[in-house]
Amino acid sequence: MRHETIEKSLHLMMVLIVVAISIGGLVEIIPLMFSADTSEPAENITPYPPLRLAGRDIYVREGCYNCHSQMIRPFRSETERYGPYTTAGETVYDRPFQFGSKRTGPDLARVGARYSDDWHRLHLMNPRDLVPESNMPGYPWLAENAVDGELIARKLKALRFLGDPYTDEQVAGAAAAVEGRTEMDALIAYLQGLGTNRRNRR
Ligand code: HEC
Repeated sequence: MRHETIEKSLHLMMVLIVVAISIGGLVEIIPLMFSADTSEPAENITPYPPLRLAGRDIYVREGCYNCHSQMIRPFRSETERYGPYTTAGETVYDRPFQFGSKRTGPDLARVGARYSDDWHRLHLMNPRDLVPESNMPGYPWLAENAVDGELIARKLKALRFLGDPYTDEQVAGAAAAVEGRTEMDALIAYLQGLGTNRRNRR
């Protein structure tokens, strides 16, 4: 009888659906905020050093995530190709995370140390010099832009405010750490660090 009342009232039905879905969502989301698996850094994961942090921001600015994911799914076809699957604890210092879902190019979560710095430099200048069939654009201007040291120091402070455990020395030395480096250097440093916490890669 009560069920019939609900089914016949559009508004009541809508309100109750929203309540039911909210409870279902919260039950799934809230425990993750307190679980060590998702909120504590995984082994060997530390906040990004200044140059890599600058590189990460360039990665975001240039929209690399439009063609590259950084999340290896726990399937054999993925782990055979890329290496161990991604865990939440690896990305606790990623704001915002770069999981992505579009793979025009390969996943980059474990690309660190797979190629030399020189390989990346040539590839980012013009991918077709190394991979003739590539449709990835070149990013030659990165080699001409300098990294702004003051800005990086401010970013470290902001991230520390949000809870990333940067030390006073790291903040004080941030500008010096990127002194004289180009955006190309920073992006390569970022790429070379991806996934290197997982030494059991192929
Ligand atoms: C239009 C899509 C597209 C965009 C945007 C793009 N890429 Fe790519 N990327 C590709 C494709 C396709 C490949 C595979 C062919 C090749 O190696 O060039 C690739 C390959 C790569 C590789 C080699 C990966 C491997 O495991 O062999 C790296 C590293 C890379 N891209 C980095 C970047 C970075 C950094 C950016 C942003 C500055 C970027 N890509 C933007 C499409 C893209």
